Amino acid sequence: MNRVHIRTYGCQMNERDSEAVASQLVARGYRIVDREEEADIVLLNTCSVRDQAEQKAIGKMGHLAKRKRRNPDFVIGFMGCMAQNRGPELLERLPDVDLIVGTQRFHHMPEYLDRLTASRESGVPVPSSIVDLEEETGSQNTIREHLPERRKVSAFVSIMQGCNMACTFCIVPKTRGRERGRPIGEIVREIEELAADGTREVTLLGQIVTSYGRGEIPVRNGKSPFVQLLERVHEVDGIERIRFTSPHPRGFNRDLAEAYRDLPKLCNYVHLPLQSGSDRMLRRMNRPYSRKKYLEIVENLRRNVPDMYFSTDIIVGFPGETEDDFHQTCEVFDRVGYDMAYIFKYSKRSGTPAEAMEDQISSEVKEARNQELLGRLEKLSGRRNQALVGTTQEILVEGPARKGPYFTGRTRGNRVAFFEGNERLVGELVEMYVDRATPSSLYGSLVLAGVDT
Ligand code: SAH
Ligand code: F3S
Repeated sequence: MNRVHIRTYGCQMNERDSEAVASQLVARGYRIVDREEEADIVLLNTCSVRDQAEQKAIGKMGHLAKRKRRNPDFVIGFMGCMAQNRGPELLERLPDVDLIVGTQRFHHMPEYLDRLTASRESGVPVPSSIVDLEEETGSQNTIREHLPERRKVSAFVSIMQGCNMACTFCIVPKTRGRERGRPIGEIVREIEELAADGTREVTLLGQIVTSYGRGEIPVRNGKSPFVQLLERVHEVDGIERIRFTSPHPRGFNRDLAEAYRDLPKLCNYVHLPLQSGSDRMLRRMNRPYSRKKYLEIVENLRRNVPDMYFSTDIIVGFPGETEDDFHQTCEVFDRVGYDMAYIFKYSKRSGTPAEAMEDQISSEVKEARNQELLGRLEKLSGRRNQALVGTTQEILVEGPARKGPYFTGRTRGNRVAFFEGNERLVGELVEMYVDRATPSSLYGSLVLAGVDT
């Protein structure tokens, strides 16, 4: 009666939170199962950034509620951003839900499940569902445990929670609260433990990582707290690669550009959210940079790291976006030559300033703009991959590919690679000769040092 299935709808942050909850539950004697049908308890961790994930999760919960009506012992709950954002309303809509836990209270999950299962076993029904959406100081320090049984070559490490910006489209400040960073020492200790367990690559996670420690940790030698953190992580033995997501363009000052140049473990890949290439749109979105400033950041990074790979977030169909505004986004898109991009159709979020803006864009126009950018991305990404054919790339081997006889891993520039390998290579850095490429992947053969062929 203690088998838990956790399903995540959303970003890496949510994945990371689910993993931390799973690990806490395992420590408390619960079992995590991969199949929902085998579970006694199903938790949905859901993103709120766009409406789509919320709708999917609500649909899923509707099905789970039916199962619960047949079997009242079955426990179902929501956690994460959507729980935080719509808690009480969710319960009105889905009264069978037992548990709704917000983004700052994940670590109470074991206690709540104990309570629910205890009352079930004693035959005394729980009087009502448990809803906990409190804010909690210090909750950012609770998201750390990794599931011990899953050795991970590449791991996500949460360094902060929340965001103090106020982009007019974004629900995150509401669902995740104010910025709160974890102390450098704790982050480094967690990464040392991961490295001891075989992790070779870490991705530092936060809603706005470049603001890490702002106002709490002093700037030293012109270096922001975030860059100081990067330097400390860089010293951890066994860690070979460092990435981070998501930064904000305003965090790209000289110290960060120089960190890319000076810290060899920091991978030559940067996710730099643009949102729009039109200054008029950027102002309406309350993004504090101009198109010109953004392009300067890109050039400066390229100067420091000539083979930098660029990724971005773009919103199409923000209220009031004209053909001309969109055209300007396309121009910046091609000018930067993104290797990767997450393109989002604007989704109205309740309570955000953009919700009330006039000139909402029709879904047909959003879809057309979305397709246009996806087409451009495929071209750019295909061109970049094609240029790698005939070169040798360093790959961190992650494991067997889901399909086919291949193993998979990624280059320093975050390109997915497939090759013939074996289990012994998992966690190793190997050299791969690129034989062929598609827009999304590289295929090649390993160049094994010291082996004559
Ligand atoms: N820095 C944060 C950003 C969170 S949202 C993080 O990575 O966690 C991620 C992306 O979703 C944003 O950069 C934006 O492009 C997109 N997004 C946010 N709100 C949106 C909305 N209402 N509609 C469509 N896309 C949105
Ligand atoms: Fe959202 Fe803008 Fe912060 S996109 S997470 S409010 S930087």
